[in-house]
Amino acid sequence: MQNLINIILSHEAEKIPMILKSYQLDINSFFLDRTPLQFAIQDKHLGCIKVLLENGADPNLGNENYGFPLKMAVSNNFYEITNLLLEFGANVDQADQKNQETALHFAVFSSNERITKLLLSFGANPFLKDEFDETPIDLATDKVLAFLKDYSIKFIDYSPSLFDKFINPYQMDTKLNKREYSIDFPQLKEIQHIANGAFGSVFIAEYKDKYVAVKKFSNLHGYSLELFEREISVLCKCNHPNIIQIIGYHYPEEILQKNQTENKENDKNEEILKKSEIKYDPCIVLEYLPKGTLYEKLKNLKRKKVKLKHPIIVRYAKDIAEGMKYLHSLKFIHRDLKSSNILITEDNHLKIIDFGYSRYEAKEYDLDPLTFNTGTLNWMAPEILRKESKYTSKVDVYSYGLVLWEIVFRQVPYRVHLQSVRNYDLRNEVGYKKVRPQLPITKQAPQEIIDLIKKCWKQNPDSRPSFDEICKILSNIKF
Ligand SMILES: Nc1ncnc2c1ncn2[C@@H]1O[C@H](COP(=O)(O)OP(=O)(O)O)[C@@H](O)[C@H]1O
Ligand SMILES: [Mg+2]
Repeated sequence: MQNLINIILSHEAEKIPMILKSYQLDINSFFLDRTPLQFAIQDKHLGCIKVLLENGADPNLGNENYGFPLKMAVSNNFYEITNLLLEFGANVDQADQKNQETALHFAVFSSNERITKLLLSFGANPFLKDEFDETPIDLATDKVLAFLKDYSIKFIDYSPSLFDKFINPYQMDTKLNKREYSIDFPQLKEIQHIANGAFGSVFIAEYKDKYVAVKKFSNLHGYSLELFEREISVLCKCNHPNIIQIIGYHYPEEILQKNQTENKENDKNEEILKKSEIKYDPCIVLEYLPKGTLYEKLKNLKRKKVKLKHPIIVRYAKDIAEGMKYLHSLKFIHRDLKSSNILITEDNHLKIIDFGYSRYEAKEYDLDPLTFNTGTLNWMAPEILRKESKYTSKVDVYSYGLVLWEIVFRQVPYRVHLQSVRNYDLRNEVGYKKVRPQLPITKQAPQEIIDLIKKCWKQNPDSRPSFDEICKILSNIKF
């Protein structure tokens, strides 16, 4: 055993299997009060830890003096080690025998945001009590409290078996980058710039003999990176004909590594990012839809004075509703639904794009720093305009109502108001005075669509239908 420990202390990971075999050692026995794994963790040697785990070291085995392995890793702020232990099946909720503290108690108490998020993504229970009856939520510092609370709501809502499917919108899914969505960046050949976005540009490119759309994020800082991470987190979960299909993404190693620096301070991190040379910007590669956005199409129709036929209006309404029904079934809220975030396919169907502002649905309150910075004013639900801290997926239903209005009247909502009244205060008018775009009595759309618009933009979110109900209403429209 002494030999094995010496090898661990001299970081000769490759020799471990041979020593274990030739001396027939029990990898889970104790030496000087510690297991070999605990020695390796104390010595912070990732290579040795990995080899020990691969050779059957029990990630949950520890003793009172040194604590269990996960506690050792978390209390020393070892992110990579924590991740490795969890991947090898460490019990995320294991509690210290002495004081009943879990790894999450340690992480929140020391304000370690990354490790807290990591533990949560492995399904850590935020309601377990320590010897003083305190839960991680009680101990959390301001820095980690917001997302811990947000997560707690989800913890109540969803059974633990769903956690392997769980995506935390605040963090990059730690395993995402290793999955099939990583792209081979040098194979991407840019052909043409097509749009300027809020945080970068969109290009047409050639990738593996196909045309693709590439959404590049060039202003690298904390906020735009967060949007990028949100967008890929959502897109990688979606597979639906009315939602844009992701082909892959590029998350530069340099940024990923900087992001994974232990105890990263945001400001510091940004500084490092500015200094470091980033070869390729982060980007998202999507299927390319050459027919442009619904916004552009409606604008062109209006210019040419062409009205949409009723069956097409209903088809568009159905396409968006089906896509949104699917998105909501995954518990995501889009938060920026509007005609310029909807694309037209070759066969004149619609697909929803732009998931940067999307978030996981929190039922009761919302402590997301992005809360008051979401979406585009004209399509924003009154409860968001009033800056209420509580809102639900019904904000998307409101925006959907406005998109239907756009489809019928082929113009941007409130354009007339904005032109006629100087400094028109949309926030106040829509948020408090219940003003909506005009609904002239015309035969421009089936009556059912006009009625649906009115239902969707109701002031009270609870009175708005769900996308489930909307899909049913639409399927009953007969011509
Ligand atoms: N897959 C795509 N195919 C074709 N055009 C696209 C695609 N994705 C985005 N675009 C174009 O780029 C614009 C900006 O993309 P979007 O995802 O909405 O980014 P932003 O967050 O900057 O609004 C869209 O309005 C659309 O014109
Ligand atoms: Mg957009």
